[in-house]
Amino acid sequence: MRTLRSPQSHAALANRRAFLKFLAGSPLFAPAARLLLSEGSLSETHAAAAVEPVIASPEAALNVFNFETAARAKLPPAHWGYLATGVEDDATLRANRSAFSKYHIRPRRLVDVRQIDASTRLLGEELASPILLAPVGSQKAFHDDGEVAVARGAKAQRHQMILSTQTTSSIEDVNAAYGSPVWYQLYPTSSWEVTRGLLKRVQAAGCRVVTVTVDQLSFRSTETFQRFRRTDDRDCAECHSPRVFGRHKPMYQGLNTTGVTSNLYAGLTWDFVDRLRQETTMKIVLKGIVTREDARLSVEHGVDGILVSNHGGRAEESGWGTLDSLPEVLEAVAGKMPVLIDGGIRRGTDVFKALALGARAVCIGRPYIWGLAAFGQAGVEKVLNLLRLELDLAMKHAGTRTLRDITRNCVG
Ligand code: FNR
Repeated sequence: MRTLRSPQSHAALANRRAFLKFLAGSPLFAPAARLLLSEGSLSETHAAAAVEPVIASPEAALNVFNFETAARAKLPPAHWGYLATGVEDDATLRANRSAFSKYHIRPRRLVDVRQIDASTRLLGEELASPILLAPVGSQKAFHDDGEVAVARGAKAQRHQMILSTQTTSSIEDVNAAYGSPVWYQLYPTSSWEVTRGLLKRVQAAGCRVVTVTVDQLSFRSTETFQRFRRTDDRDCAECHSPRVFGRHKPMYQGLNTTGVTSNLYAGLTWDFVDRLRQETTMKIVLKGIVTREDARLSVEHGVDGILVSNHGGRAEESGWGTLDSLPEVLEAVAGKMPVLIDGGIRRGTDVFKALALGARAVCIGRPYIWGLAAFGQAGVEKVLNLLRLELDLAMKHAGTRTLRDITRNCVG
């Protein structure tokens, strides 16, 4: 990863690298430190995780970054690379994370915060937590139990889950494991018939919310993924052929995908949104809106919600963190629909900051997949549990008993 750094941060980096080298020689800390050194990346999160050994159980985790190191140790290089990657220089990926450090929380004292309530009502549903699981495709690439383990973990911890079109478990199996209908994420392809078929199926399965991903075009340059893939000497053809609509992708079964070459589609316009509005009674959330212009158009085209997202830095290489784009989207929407956000959320304090800036809820992607990859359902549960505990603590220190109490004034 390339990045511009000040002389001071170069010195800090050199110190951290020296420290990691020292740790790599220690039997206790060696596995984590060696991994991080071999990747050549020393993010703030890596540096923190590197001073701890790779955790052997979910209970040992202090924070979600412990699951990142554990997932890295368990996954084959190509799968790890796919999970970790951004696009091109990974600048947007880093911007998502660094945006949170531009804000601080304003602590308030002498408020009775013995009882904290983080429940919320969103798009007609009662949610126990404002932290949702973002759609992530191909979860069996990270753990044999894939989306079903995630659904069980989300259910146990009472978090709403969004299932990807690129799922490796069917909507029916996931809903059964979750105990009620999850939200569905739709990738529009070049074929309206495929879209209609997917909608019909998820509606029949009881889904009430469809999240339409609008940030993926015809190609993306996932260089970090490509670098890791080159170091992976396994035979990948068995699982990856055909790549998009193969037998590992159950949502496409029974649909006529002839002539549809990809789930990414550069021809998408607002006409598609209008057509979707006509076609379905499900609530429609557009995932991937980051500008005031598109937020205004979302209002005009009658969608029910926006998820401010850049696909976790895996779509455009704008260098623009989602938290930084949130204010202009909120301004344009002017309270006419709920706005959610994802990208770089790794701490309860990040959740708090996003809510204080005006998001109604947040989604997490990589963190719960780190949990899944490392320990299956138990890992997913612990990741959710940690984030909720951290949010609880952040709310207490800000003197906010409910989500309604979290306002713009709570962050500076
Ligand atoms: C994703 N994301 C994603 N989004 C989507 O709409 N459909 C999908 O199938 C996927 N698949 C996917 C795979 C992997 C491996 C990752 C990491 C991400 C994007 C995801 O929903 C979400 O926007 C980001 O992951 C949020 O950023 P963080 O939390 O990962 O930083």
